[in-house]
Amino acid sequence: MNVLLLGGTGFIGTALSQTLGDRSHNVTVVARNPPADHNADSAIAGDISHPSTIRSAFEGIDVVVNLIALSPLFDPPAGITHDEVHRGGTQTALGLADAHEVDRFVQMSALGSDPDGPTAYIRAKGRAEQLVRESSIESVIIRPSVVFGDGGEFVDFTRLLTTPYVTGLPGGGHTRFQPIWVGDLAPLLADAVAEPAHADAEYELGGPEAITLAEVTKHIYDTVVVLPIPMALAKIGLTIADHLSFVPMGIDQYRSLAFDNIVESNDVTSFGVDQGELRSLADHLERSRS
Ligand SMILES: NC(=O)c1ccc[n+]([C@@H]2O[C@H](COP(=O)([O-])OP(=O)(O)OC[C@H]3O[C@@H](n4cnc5c(N)ncnc54)[C@H](OP(=O)(O)O)[C@@H]3O)[C@@H](O)[C@H]2O)c1
Repeated sequence: MNVLLLGGTGFIGTALSQTLGDRSHNVTVVARNPPADHNADSAIAGDISHPSTIRSAFEGIDVVVNLIALSPLFDPPAGITHDEVHRGGTQTALGLADAHEVDRFVQMSALGSDPDGPTAYIRAKGRAEQLVRESSIESVIIRPSVVFGDGGEFVDFTRLLTTPYVTGLPGGGHTRFQPIWVGDLAPLLADAVAEPAHADAEYELGGPEAITLAEVTKHIYDTVVVLPIPMALAKIGLTIADHLSFVPMGIDQYRSLAFDNIVESNDVTSFGVDQGELRSLADHLERSRS
């Protein structure tokens, strides 16, 4: 199959490109600044906000995977919005896929995506999902919890938020996540690309366990004492940060810590996988140290 990975040079896209290549698919990646040594068969420089720069990438493509991302962990750079990149980008990608009679569109969404949700990222992801459902193209929507692995942001971001030995966490770090390892996720995405059984399906995917931010912190630092920062105080701090251009976080980061990011039922089973087989964050960190 000829597979186009929009945002295929990123953390998840690079792992997926490798898996698809190993399965003998022909992979093209699109990004604004693709590295010369990327593992895909071809890499095209283009910006989803400027459709003319990516139109040619859709020629002869069977399946498109939309992985273009603006990180929810930090405030977007000036002049770029989640709505433009996630909703607007999906609209552009669907239009080009339709015009080129692509067979399937795989949308990388996120757990909790909701057009009326609490953060700009979650709302844009929810609106993008609506566009995918309304399209006449066969689709698969994937909603993972946080994804970890070499090159991922989750562990580094937690390190940025915390300090070894003693650290303060909003609400004591009780927000729960269900982190999934990129090495476990990529084969599921590759199945979603190619297997007829996944046509028009929507999946919520998580790792083997739900863990709190405090537990994540304790996995990163062997000995750390977590001191609770009252949520009201965290809200005030991040509301002020919203107005400080040199602080890369703001009120949406507070809001995203106010709800859990865990699956109700883990759809890895739809891919013939038992969640008990998946790599845990603790195991991954242990392997990285040894
Ligand atoms: N990582 C997670 O924990 C996680 C969890 C849930 C859902 N997701 C979703 O999974 C998908 C992939 O995430 P990721 O972690 O792999 O993201 P990532 O590492 O930040 O990669 C983003 C990719 O998008 C490209 N890109 C960004 N803006 C673009 C634009 N305007 N035009 C063209 N390409 C653009 C980037 O390359 P350039 O910068 O060179 O353009 C890069 O290839 C996203 O949809 C994300 O929302 C991720």
